[in-house]
Amino acid sequence: IPAHLTIDPHFVVGPVNRRLFGSFVEHLGRCVYDGIFEPTHPTADEDGCRKDVVALVRELGVTAIRYPGGNFVSGYRWEDGVGPVDQRPRRLDLAWHSTETNEVGLNEFARWLTKVDCELMYAVNLGTRGLQEALDVLEYANVRSGTALSDLRAAHGSPEPHSIRMWCLGNEMDGPWQLGHGTAKSYAQLASKTARAMRQLDPDLELVVCGSSSAAMPTFGEWERVVLEETYDDVDYISCHAYYEPLAGDYGSFLASAVDMDRFIDSVVATADHVKAIRRSTKTMYVSFDEWNVWYQSRYHDVDRITDVETWPVAPRLLEDVYTVMDAVVFGSLLISLLRHADRVTSASLAQLVNVIAPIMTEPGGDAWRQTTFFPFALTSSLARGSTLELKLDCRTYHTTLYGDVPVVDAVATHDADAGATAVFAVNRSQTDEVGLEIDASHLGKVTIGSAQTLHDEDPHAANTLTDQERVRVEPNATARLDGGVVRVTLPPVSWTAITLV
Ligand code: AHR
Repeated sequence: IPAHLTIDPHFVVGPVNRRLFGSFVEHLGRCVYDGIFEPTHPTADEDGCRKDVVALVRELGVTAIRYPGGNFVSGYRWEDGVGPVDQRPRRLDLAWHSTETNEVGLNEFARWLTKVDCELMYAVNLGTRGLQEALDVLEYANVRSGTALSDLRAAHGSPEPHSIRMWCLGNEMDGPWQLGHGTAKSYAQLASKTARAMRQLDPDLELVVCGSSSAAMPTFGEWERVVLEETYDDVDYISCHAYYEPLAGDYGSFLASAVDMDRFIDSVVATADHVKAIRRSTKTMYVSFDEWNVWYQSRYHDVDRITDVETWPVAPRLLEDVYTVMDAVVFGSLLISLLRHADRVTSASLAQLVNVIAPIMTEPGGDAWRQTTFFPFALTSSLARGSTLELKLDCRTYHTTLYGDVPVVDAVATHDADAGATAVFAVNRSQTDEVGLEIDASHLGKVTIGSAQTLHDEDPHAANTLTDQERVRVEPNATARLDGGVVRVTLPPVSWTAITLV
């Protein structure tokens, strides 16, 4: 039975905010060191940054990058990462049982962002620190000159302010693993007064309060309610984090991970709107989905913890998941879920960017290459323009252990009225059968197929590795045809497809 969907440019969900294609760089493993920064690498520039990585980050189409953590930030002293590099302290990183050299800090990272043309989204430490330190780093980063900390930044070689608009008030403060974790109420009070203080310096900042670190947290829902009741007037976004992996070989549920992401977003939006109603507020709270990905967390807990403090390594190989075709299909469907919620999810960060659960991998002194997940991200970032459209999708369902009956196909469309360009992104979750997809595009007027590209492999567990860097790539889908206003395309089993209509 073919799947059928109808596109109508009048049914607008919301504008596609470019910040949806954000990512995340944490001082974790080899994300910063050996990833973006490796002064001895043959492609290193005058700042010690790998030019091959810069080129791949640009190709990926990333727009904004959250930094410097993650769990790392909850024990981080931002002052350690500024000033003369040879005087910076080495510190224990309690989150990842590593040693932090502080060779890279705020100024180096901001400079790197100019090379990759990305906005900086900065997370302050509300784990071991608080309001004063948040104000200090805000003054250091954003005040032009004439104050102690802005002049210090200039003395450190960065005369121009970094002009950071988006600030995260801590990281995953609902998680018992987080340094400084407490109750929703205690966190919310700290976040509220920190937000108000930061706005006294600059009322136009965009502030993100911590939501849940996953929808499976026992406090999920109640955490959001308590935190938003305390901070509703002070912040602009509440965060969501979600990671997915196949559990006990249950690929059927894994392929339907976006169903969970949809429900997660809908629940957070419902909770935010409930608080809005109680407060008789006219303000709408947005979602910053500032950590999402496929992550084989079960592997990490088994092998990667290093317990002897004396030997906590610098930039160890941590969380270096190798992504398969199936992982990339799930990943592409998570992007579909984010786009589908464009009216409320206006910022998102793929966690992470280089080496650590990343679309880009590197070898010290050697190559940089694209993981399978690179392709759906790069294509979605480049093709999803204008607004998300509400789709009418009919298709068969299949049963999953975790989410019940789910559609075998998932899809989203974006439409750029000015450019006259439409993009459709679709996944086939079946592990065995191809699915014919019919797209009724007649409401778009006269269009032609611009491109049709599919990520698929006979082996859904195929991956790109150091020794086989181009095993998996996106190929043109030669089955796509337009006939009387209807596009027909075959979606192979376990595949992700992008089609443009112009
Ligand atoms: O991205 C890896 C980790 O996942 C982050 O440090 C943390 O915020 C989350 O639990």
